[in-house]
Amino acid sequence: MNEMTLDLVITALERIRQTSDRAPRASKTALARLQFVAPNKADLLAPIRERVRVCTKCPHLACSRTQTVFGVGNPDAELMFVGEAPGVDEDAQGEPFVGRAGQLLTKILKAMGFAREDVYIANILKCRPDTPAGSFGNRTPTPTEMQTCRPYLVEQIEIIQPKVLVALGAIAVEGLLGTRGTMRELRGRWHLYNGTPLMITFHPAYLLRNQAPSEKRKVWEDMLRVLERLERPITERQRNYFL
Ligand code: URA
Repeated sequence: MNEMTLDLVITALERIRQTSDRAPRASKTALARLQFVAPNKADLLAPIRERVRVCTKCPHLACSRTQTVFGVGNPDAELMFVGEAPGVDEDAQGEPFVGRAGQLLTKILKAMGFAREDVYIANILKCRPDTPAGSFGNRTPTPTEMQTCRPYLVEQIEIIQPKVLVALGAIAVEGLLGTRGTMRELRGRWHLYNGTPLMITFHPAYLLRNQAPSEKRKVWEDMLRVLERLERPITERQRNYFL
């Protein structure tokens, strides 16, 4: 039982103790209600967000970041996307997938019938990997950085308990499963993360670099597999869709 649930239970027990001296019937009602104390996932995520906000486990990243990028979306989501790490736009805005790759992800979600608010989106790393001053582009997170930050993501997934996880790119897979592989071997089929079905597909940034329709179609086919797994109705238009 986590801290937040424990607090709720203690508060309820305290109420029972206070009321039971005076009114036994009230205490029974309180006890009955206690059985239905369902933890609110947003409340459960809040203390983790706060721990991430002040995290200094990677001192070099704590120094270089503008802010941490925890995650965004619906804590009750059935579908959760896991990316690599914040880029320059995400570092500036404090939200994952808001740059060019993020805009493409949003477009993919829309084609699937989701808004960003319907799903949950997080990264393996909560800080932008630092880059030498004056350089452009992003740096791939190191295995050590990923191992250090991974426990936060594990907690997020434990709370959200999505029906389906999607890992975007081989680095996200390495961070999540600890296994290295090529996208050729990994994508397009179901894997398991702690019992949760995991689909692996290309990172949207890859699609921006490689505009070949065949690659876009592969991502879309992976998303159709996800919709099927979620038992979502798929229209003919969606079946024939080309990203
Ligand atoms: N790429 C990622 O993997 N995550 C982001 O949040 C943005 C770009």
